[in-house]
Amino acid sequence: MHRSRIIGCGAYLPERIMTNHELARMVETSHEWIVSRTGICQRHIAAEDECTSDLALKAAQAAMDDAGITADDIDLIVLATTTPDQTFPATATQVQAKLNMTRGAAFDVQAVCAGFLYALAIADNFLTAGQAETVLVIGSETYSRILDWQDRRTCILFGDGAGAVMLRRADGNGNSNDRGVLSTHLHSDGRLHDLLYVDGGPSSTQTAGHVRMAGREVFRHAVIKLTEAVEEALEANDLTAKDIDWLVPHQANKRIIDGMARKLGLAPEQVVLTIDRHANTSAASIPLALCEAVRDGRIKPGHLILMEAIGGGLSWGSSLVRW
Ligand code: ACO
Repeated sequence: MHRSRIIGCGAYLPERIMTNHELARMVETSHEWIVSRTGICQRHIAAEDECTSDLALKAAQAAMDDAGITADDIDLIVLATTTPDQTFPATATQVQAKLNMTRGAAFDVQAVCAGFLYALAIADNFLTAGQAETVLVIGSETYSRILDWQDRRTCILFGDGAGAVMLRRADGNGNSNDRGVLSTHLHSDGRLHDLLYVDGGPSSTQTAGHVRMAGREVFRHAVIKLTEAVEEALEANDLTAKDIDWLVPHQANKRIIDGMARKLGLAPEQVVLTIDRHANTSAASIPLALCEAVRDGRIKPGHLILMEAIGGGLSWGSSLVRW
């Protein structure tokens, strides 16, 4: 039995920070409103000449250093993004080139805020099927480029950033004590398209478009669907909420995250929160949060980590990982 073990992680956030106070000078909002409804205090914004692949590269290099892996060791790059550098080729291939990788394969995955979990599931399947030994999974976004900066319902929510994990095939016993990815569960329901989408694209408008969201409806679906996905993950591994050491959720709204922690009976200290400083970085939010908690020593070998995310599609999922 093989498992996909995470052997390194890395993160990158653009230098420029935009506070809620700065936003309040652009649209009719306030720091107090944004904090009380979302938990967000600030977000990072990519420089004009910084693309999604540049952010991804920095996170990837940090993950490679952490894992002690060189570009020659990587068989596959799976990059989750909704904000690719170009319509094609895949942003993952740009990262591959910037890493001077001359072998292996690289492609993008588009599952919006659930993108990291989709990429992780693909990597896990490649590794456990024996089609790859070492896989780099990246979540990287420049949402600042697809926001309508006049729409206060959406522009306050998002930020730019990138996170990456390095996975390697390892032996396991097939039980939940194994270190590595224990499970991934993915879902989508395309009928819910209109709740959260971008009103542009190469085939429809030939423009990049802007994020549009029915926030309250997405919130309602998030609570129901994330709860189901988490129950599914625990059941599949014969585990209960009491076994969880850390909740590393997608950082969309602190109220959604708090609600999930309460349902699971987790103490606030068991939840990794970055939304206050990063805002919603879509596919990058989980690896950014994961990396922070690993770096500061909260997550230790043997700990059980629960990850969950929902986003446009709607697309959602969960994963259990033993560190
Ligand atoms: N500042 C001040 N007032 C505002 C702002 C703002 N930035 N935005 C909206 N308002 C107003 C509205 O106009 C509305 O006023 P009205 O009652 O006079 O019409 C009032 O505040 C309440 O608006 P709601 O949209 O109902 O506010 P809500 O409490 O639902 O919070 C929010 C909005 C934060 C967007 C919330 O609904 C949410 O977080 N939803 C889920 C988001 C999510 O999980 N997305 C998934 C991932 S994202 C992805 O995949 C790309």
